[in-house]
Amino acid sequence: MKALILSGGTGSRLRPLTYTGAKQLIPVANKPILFYAIEAIRDAGIDEIGIIVGDTREEVKRAVGDGSLWGVKVTYIEQDAPRGLAHAVKISADFIGDDDFLMFLGDNLVRDGVSAFANQFRTNRPNSLILLSRVPDPQRFGVAELTNGRVVRLIEKPQVPPSDLALVGVYLFDKNIFTAVNAIKPSWRNELEITDAIQYLVDHGHVVDSHVIDGWWKDTGKPEDVLEANRMMLEYIETDICGTVDADSQIFGRAVIDADVEIINSVIRGPVVIAKGARIVDSYIGPFTAISERVQVLGSEVENSILLQGTVIAQIPTRIDSSLIGKNVRISRIKERPKALNFVLGDNSRADVQ
Ligand code: TTP
Repeated sequence: MKALILSGGTGSRLRPLTYTGAKQLIPVANKPILFYAIEAIRDAGIDEIGIIVGDTREEVKRAVGDGSLWGVKVTYIEQDAPRGLAHAVKISADFIGDDDFLMFLGDNLVRDGVSAFANQFRTNRPNSLILLSRVPDPQRFGVAELTNGRVVRLIEKPQVPPSDLALVGVYLFDKNIFTAVNAIKPSWRNELEITDAIQYLVDHGHVVDSHVIDGWWKDTGKPEDVLEANRMMLEYIETDICGTVDADSQIFGRAVIDADVEIINSVIRGPVVIAKGARIVDSYIGPFTAISERVQVLGSEVENSILLQGTVIAQIPTRIDSSLIGKNVRISRIKERPKALNFVLGDNSRADVQ
C-alpha cells in the first residue's frame, strides 16, 4: 500500500498567510500540519508517500525533503493548478501503479491516526474505504448515505442531509479509482471532484465501505480551525523545560519551552509551547498558545493564539486572544499623539479592535 498526500491547492480561506506560505506548513502546537499526516501514514505501516505539490512546491520540498526524517520515501508529484482532488489522483497514476493507496488531505488532522482505517481495508479488501465522522452540522460537509455500512450515495453540502456522517479528508482506494477519475467530468467549480469519482465506483458496482472514527479530526481550512487544532494538539504535550526561566517568572500547567528561550518576569499558564530563540519579557502567555522560533513578547498578554517565526508583540495594553499571526509581524504600542490605531496590513489581512 502506498500513500498520497495532497499539499497543493489555493488556500484562499487562509489568506494572507497563504500568500507567502503553504497552509499545510502552518504549525499546530509548533509542528507543521503536514508532518502529522506523514506520521499517521508511517504509523499505519506505509513507507512510500507521494506528495502533490502546487505553487508552494519549493517550501514543501524544503520542509519534508526525501522523507528520511520519518523513515519513509517521498516522491513529489507536480500539479500545474488546483484542478480538484480527483485530478490529483489522476496525475499520480505512474507513482501509484497497480497498488492500493491511502489518500490524505494535507490540511487535515486526525488525532488518533489512520492505522485502524488502513487495517480495515487490508482485512476486508473493498474497492474503496472512506473515513467518516459524525458531525452536528452535516450541511457544511460532504455527507455519505449508507446501507449496512456500505456507501450508496455521496452528497456535497446537502440542504437536507441523509445522515450526520461527514467525509473526513482520508480515503483508501484500489486501482479502480483510476477508471473513475478518467471517466468523470469537471464540476460547476471546474474541479474534478473526488466525491464524483467515488460515486462513479458505487454506480458501477464497486464496493465502497466506510469507517466511522470516534476521535477528533479537523479540516484546517480557516483560521479558527487552525486555532482549534492547536488547542486539541496542545492537550497532548508533556512538560519539558530546556530554556531559561528567571526567578521572577512562574510556570503553571504543562509547558514545552525549548532550549535558547528566555522567560523573564513573566507568567506562563499552560498548555503552551515556546520554540527556540523566543523571548518572553514582562508578559503573560495564557493557555493554548503556540509561539514559534525567535518570537518576542514584551510587556504584553497573549492567549489561545499562534505566533509564527520572528514576530514581535510589544507593550500592547489589551490581551491578544484567539489570534493567528504570521511571520515577522510587529505589533507595538506607540505613545505619540494622536491616540490612534496605526496599521500596515497586507491584502486580505484581518484586524479586529475594540
Ligand atoms: P481544499 O481545502 O479543498 O482547497 P484549497 O487548498 O484550494 O483551499 P481554499 O478552499 O481555502 O482555497 O483542499 C484540500 C487539500 O487538498 C489541501 O491540502 C489542498 C489540497 N489540494 C490539492 O493538492 N490539489 C487540488 O487540486 C485541490 C483542490 C486541493
